[in-house]
Amino acid sequence: MKKKILINQTITNFKKKIITVDGDKSLSIRFVLFSSLSQGKCSATNLLNSEDVHSAINIIKRLGIKIKSKNKKCEIFGNGLFGYKFKKNLILNAGNSGTTARLMLPLLNNSTDWIKITGDQSLRKRDMSRIIKPLRLFGFKFKNNSERLPLLIKGPKILKPISFTENLGSAQCKSAIMIAALKAKGKTKIKCLPSRNHSELMFNNLMKISTKIYKKNNYEFIELNGLKEIKPFKYKIPGDISSASFFVVLTLLSKKSSLIIKNVNTNPSRIGVIKILNMMGSKIKFLNKKNYKGEKISDIYIEPNRNLKGIKLNSKINSSAIDEFLLIFLVASICKGISIFNNLGELNKKESKRLDWGIKILKMMGVKVKKIRSDGIKIWGNPKLELKKSYVIKNYLKDHRIFMVSTIAALTLGGNWKIHDSDSFKTSFPNFLKILKTLGAKIK
Ligand code: S3P
Repeated sequence: MKKKILINQTITNFKKKIITVDGDKSLSIRFVLFSSLSQGKCSATNLLNSEDVHSAINIIKRLGIKIKSKNKKCEIFGNGLFGYKFKKNLILNAGNSGTTARLMLPLLNNSTDWIKITGDQSLRKRDMSRIIKPLRLFGFKFKNNSERLPLLIKGPKILKPISFTENLGSAQCKSAIMIAALKAKGKTKIKCLPSRNHSELMFNNLMKISTKIYKKNNYEFIELNGLKEIKPFKYKIPGDISSASFFVVLTLLSKKSSLIIKNVNTNPSRIGVIKILNMMGSKIKFLNKKNYKGEKISDIYIEPNRNLKGIKLNSKINSSAIDEFLLIFLVASICKGISIFNNLGELNKKESKRLDWGIKILKMMGVKVKKIRSDGIKIWGNPKLELKKSYVIKNYLKDHRIFMVSTIAALTLGGNWKIHDSDSFKTSFPNFLKILKTLGAKIK
């Protein structure tokens, strides 16, 4: 049964001033997949306990890797670079998780039989050609010519190193190539548009795989040699800025309460949302800044502020805010003046067509909005925006971020909201509704 939530009251005063959010999804999935390649026991604390991470865990279990997890602590017993056991007619299911699907494909070499990979209805619509193309160059074979899941894959034990240019600014694509490079004899070279750099930081600082990284013009260059042993490692997963962002915007638009979100990963390649909101006039601050294994960790301090102005965004920043654009569109709708965002084609390739959904939800809210060219959006903000009608959100392929952004709109702008598929947020942020309720949000 698809459940729904009902919201007909905004939240103004929070009952709490300090919260923490769930562990970082990108880091959690990478921890699971990378530790399965190490030479022994790796452990993590605060691993995200969400469906996307469970998909990654289930897959490596099916590949013969032992895992123990209890109370947010997780131990994974890696078996080396070539330590998976491949059963006959193996089918692996990545569920809703694009990161799991794309980062596990390069793990599937060294099997004599085809391995089938599939996913849920949303994941089966997503483009895999961006991964298939470089993996073919490494020596992987794909049984059919499909660019979507389900796929049948196999590959030789030792791969051929490649030189590849990645032009989408996709961290998933870059990471898939880096993972395949671990099993290639010789040096792999990647030239890529900037995107989140968690894999690079984990390779260098956790797994001790010496990875050369430099920047030239608009590109990043990555070089690494394969066939090196990965020593076991330990990791403390910080909070996820993508999850924190829902509470950043809730606070910004909620009129009265300030909020501190503790221990969030504020890696510069992920904080586009904060930079964009600050360009609009919010004064969000990072406190207690620390370095942890190359990642930057901070507490985020937010004060309410509806006195914001529209912006024309330079799209160079897009990839560092790629999962937060629905929230940014929501804030743009109450800014004074027009906001313009360009080159957002990748947004329509996420769990649902998020650019189109953003336009649809804003239109439903009575906001003046227009798609510009095929991949941009223009929003005429209205600082006095107050919602009074009934709004229904459904049939959105259970995209967790659509559910959560609709919940934040309902709690800050008013109206009677019926938001379907209330289990969708469990893919990335299982404590989302619980934290909202501890702040005092009225959700039925
Ligand atoms: C992710 C990268 C991004 C992001 C996704 C997680 C990652 O996707 O949207 O939620 O963990 O590498 P792309 O790399 O495809 O842009």
